[in-house]
Amino acid sequence: MKIKSAAFVISNSDVSKCPKDQLPEYAFIGRSNVGKSSLINMLTDRKSLAKTSGRPGKTQLINHFLINKAWFLVDLPGYGYARVSKSTKKVFQRFITAYFAKREQLVNAFVLIDSRHNPQKVDLEFMQWLGKNQIPFAIIFTKADKLSETKLKIQLDNYIAELLNYWEEMPKYFITSSTSGSGKDELLQYIDEINGQL
Ligand code: GTP
Ligand code: MG
Repeated sequence: MKIKSAAFVISNSDVSKCPKDQLPEYAFIGRSNVGKSSLINMLTDRKSLAKTSGRPGKTQLINHFLINKAWFLVDLPGYGYARVSKSTKKVFQRFITAYFAKREQLVNAFVLIDSRHNPQKVDLEFMQWLGKNQIPFAIIFTKADKLSETKLKIQLDNYIAELLNYWEEMPKYFITSSTSGSGKDELLQYIDEINGQL
């Protein structure tokens, strides 16, 4: 699929104020700094459509980006970010949960995992929560450029083994690098296939 247009539409912390359009949307979620915003820029070939930062906690709102005037990419704040205050964390948690629970236009969540990290409770629990709430999701292993091919394979095998303790079948997964652009075509094709089935 070719991205012909990508435009920022709205940011907010209230799911009821998200766009009213009945267009399908794809949300990016995961720990802070995992590369959600960078991946949106990589997929759309726009350098700074979504704001990124080396310091975790950059994205603080629900951000809608309209793609090809037909569907949305949604950038969300990271969960499990330790450096914001406990009360801020609770507010984040509340509106992120509300977004996933209430947003009917959401057709697929992408759960981003840093390829370098071993399985972490917060991610595993979040995926289980998505499963329980029947929200379709796929996993994206990010920052693949930071590992050698051998090390990447070890990390993935390890992560898959952990997931198979909870899931009968391995959820669909992708491996990406926002610096090299790897994984882009596969991800866009996956989105295109889902859009085509709707
Ligand atoms: P929050 O908005 O804070 O939740 O973070 P985020 O998940 O949106 O992460 P963001 O895209 O802002 O990226 C965080 C840092 O990781 C930035 O310094 C990026 O340049 C870097 N980064 C993101 N993706 C990649 C990648 O694929 N490869 C490399 N090498 N660095 C990456
Ligand atoms: Mg971000």
